[in-house]
Amino acid sequence: MLLCVEDLRVGYGPIEALHGITFGVREGEIVTLIGANGAGKSTTLMSIMRLPPPEAPVYHSGKMIFEGRDLTQFSPHHVVSRLGISLVPEGRRIFGNLTVWENLKIAAYAHEDRQEIQKKTKRIFGLFPRLEERRHQAADTLSGGEQQMLSVARAMMTGGRMMLLDEPSMGLAPFLMYELFHVLKEINQQGTTILLVEQNARIALKYAHRGYVLETGNILLEGDARELAKDEKVKKAYLGE
Ligand SMILES: Nc1ncnc2c1ncn2[C@@H]1O[C@H](COP(=O)(O)OP(=O)(O)OP(=O)(O)O)[C@@H](O)[C@H]1O
Ligand SMILES: [Mg+2]
Repeated sequence: MLLCVEDLRVGYGPIEALHGITFGVREGEIVTLIGANGAGKSTTLMSIMRLPPPEAPVYHSGKMIFEGRDLTQFSPHHVVSRLGISLVPEGRRIFGNLTVWENLKIAAYAHEDRQEIQKKTKRIFGLFPRLEERRHQAADTLSGGEQQMLSVARAMMTGGRMMLLDEPSMGLAPFLMYELFHVLKEINQQGTTILLVEQNARIALKYAHRGYVLETGNILLEGDARELAKDEKVKKAYLGE
């Protein structure tokens, strides 16, 4: 396993959001964690990124191992720069008043190496030609779909070993959603392992190799994505069938 999470418990003050979840992601996989509002999806990703919310005291126990290394020993900065894990956060969080290119440049702060930046930029613009056309445009003038692409592109500027995505399909029209997931698949095929958190189980299970169902802080089901999509409980609760 590239990432191994074992018995992870996370609480905000007196409220426990994750009640001891165990899951893993193998090198080269796309793994999805599906769950409804409040299931603990963002909490899981924030824990891996070592990013506690500033406003609440966080209680935390369990193991998180990445390539044999204990994640809890790494600062948020080093999770990105040393381990190569990057996050596409919920709600995009790009800098609206900066241009596309400026957003990408800021994300590249961890690289000293100009050649490395050029190589990454070339790969990104290869996958997102629309961002290249709009590289001097302010990010808040992009469409919602283009902004989501910029958020993914920004994550590609750092890391590269593993990408975590928090509900990338949110707010996108179906055809844009499919376009984005198609690119995610390509990013995965180019060697980046993906952990994808989604409320939209239909698209997540279509693109993932394996999946886990997270319900109010517990993992209820796990398995091959195709098998999960056929599961009666999943169909009823998450696919509206
Ligand atoms: N900063 C915080 N302070 C207190 N409680 C929090 C905080 N962040 C999350 N929680 C609580 O933890 C639980 C899990 O929240 P989380 O944001 O991880 O869910 P989610 O699966 O990402 O939901 P959504 O689909 O709505 O984004 C919820 O009950 C939520 O109220
Ligand atoms: Mg969330």
